[in-house]
Amino acid sequence: MIMWTDDLSVKNQQIDKEHQQLFQLIDNFYIGIMDNSPRERLEELIIGLVDYTSTHFENEEKHMLLMNYPDLEAHRKLHQHFIEKVKNYHERLISGKLILSIEVTNFLKDWLVNHIKGSDQQYAAFDENR
Ligand SMILES: [Fe+2]
Ligand SMILES: [Fe+2]
Repeated sequence: MIMWTDDLSVKNQQIDKEHQQLFQLIDNFYIGIMDNSPRERLEELIIGLVDYTSTHFENEEKHMLLMNYPDLEAHRKLHQHFIEKVKNYHERLISGKLILSIEVTNFLKDWLVNHIKGSDQQYAAFDENR
């Protein structure tokens, strides 16, 4: 389970809420794997995660654009790379080449937590200091 802690806040309520929702979706995914949910169910969960992540990234990129964040392009690339990676998991899952495991969930969780603590905190700091 991923716990939300204050140090993850980017000082924007909406975006904090979206990050919390992403944690929730990853948790659901984790629970799905632990419960041995059927592949169709896991597929649904991963599609939901891709969709919500894309929406979140779009919102976050708009937020960075509005504050004239200078590292927007580099940040956008990190987002794209992550989306590609998750889509790739999804493709491998439907073609039967991937058995979803705790490692996949751990990858998602670690990426997200590190991204929020690193890159997302950087625009939060920029916003606070401008
Ligand atoms: Fe981000
Ligand atoms: Fe984010």
